[in-house]
Amino acid sequence: MPQLFSPSANRLPLWIALSVGFVLAVAGAITAYHLWGPKLYAPEQPIPFSHAIHMQKAGMNCIACHSSALHSAKAGVPDSQSCLACHKHILPDSPKLARLHASANPDSPNYTGEPFRWNKVNKLAAHVQFDHSAHVNRGVGCTTCHEGIDTQERTTAIPDMSMGWCLSCHRSPYGIRPLEEISNPAYQDDPELSDRLIEQWQIDPGTNCNTCHH
Ligand code: HEC
Ligand code: HEC
Ligand code: HEC
Ligand code: HEC
Ligand code: HEC
Repeated sequence: MPQLFSPSANRLPLWIALSVGFVLAVAGAITAYHLWGPKLYAPEQPIPFSHAIHMQKAGMNCIACHSSALHSAKAGVPDSQSCLACHKHILPDSPKLARLHASANPDSPNYTGEPFRWNKVNKLAAHVQFDHSAHVNRGVGCTTCHEGIDTQERTTAIPDMSMGWCLSCHRSPYGIRPLEEISNPAYQDDPELSDRLIEQWQIDPGTNCNTCHH
């Protein structure tokens, strides 16, 4: 539309009107998406912790903060001291970290010792048994189940934690990777390698009711 860029000033109002109209349309579409689009559970946290920052800016991996996943049912969340190992020095005065220092840093002038709790994001019903170590030691990567968490500003729940989701993989396993890639969110899924590992490691997840319900 070259005429929009012509020097004739009398087209300027039209151009502005078109631009404003376009911006409003986009804003409307975004609002509609937020109002009526899919909603995923992402509770507010006492400290606005971002996986995106820690994976991308701090270059960490999942196991650095969730090492229990390797040897127990729970992956767990890191304690405040492990945050302070960095944050006594990195952005020590950030208001986003005030609650951390108040709770766990006796050197801080605002120290109260009052603990805080992270709000649970993923919740399976109590009648289901899930075990992290049974998965990650058999080549199922963190982000095969927690897809996209490494780019999230606010932690969001697994969209579908239904029995159908578990069974879809237990009946016909997918996404198996070399063990050293378990906590690498950049790993590119390789179906051929996955099938080879399934055979080599004789991977055969249970599908009986008592595999997951006791
Ligand atoms: C710097 C430490 C750190 C790193 C690195 C880290 N996490 Fe976390 N993670 C946390 C903290 C703190 C929470 C609790 C706050 C929240 O839910 O955002 C959490 C929460 C979670 C939760 C939700 C817990 C719940 O309540 O259900 C999942 C799932 C998770 N992390 C997976 C991962 C995965 C996968 C990676 C690697 C891609 C990773 N984390 C890397 C610190 C970390
Ligand atoms: C096979 C799918 C699967 C894999 C692989 C997996 N998770 Fe999970 N994760 C889950 C489910 C399901 C829950 C909810 C468990 C519950 O509510 O009992 C969960 C919960 C969590 C939680 C919340 C705290 C807890 O222990 O319940 C964290 C943190 C977490 N996962 C991190 C990780 C990390 C880090 C990895 C990789 C080392 C990983 N997960 C691999 C499915 C998976
Ligand atoms: C390995 C070091 C390291 C550890 C451990 C660590 N962080 Fe961080 N954190 C960083 C870096 C690097 C940044 C980004 C700094 C920047 O933006 O310049 C950051 C940023 C943040 C921010 C944003 C602050 C702001 O003002 O933008 C919050 C909040 C935060 N971290 C919370 C936590 C919590 C909670 C823990 C413990 C679960 C934790 N961090 C553990 C390195 C770390
Ligand atoms: C992406 C694939 C995948 C998903 C999704 C998945 N699993 Fe698994 N699961 C596996 C694999 C692989 C094993 C290991 C099988 C083996 O060792 O031969 C396993 C093992 C298990 C075990 C240990 C018993 C056994 O059969 O080896 C339990 C319990 C289990 N899964 C429960 C669950 C539940 C509950 C869910 C859903 C919340 C789930 N799994 C989702 C792939 C998956
Ligand atoms: C691989 C794991 C797995 C296996 C095997 C499994 N279930 Fe489930 N089951 C689940 C999960 C996950 C849920 C959903 C829990 C939730 O909503 O938090 C569930 C939910 C249920 C529910 C509750 C219904 C509902 O809507 O919440 C019943 C009843 C049930 N399962 C029965 C069975 C029976 C019977 C079998 C054997 C034929 C079986 N399950 C096998 C994982 C499993």
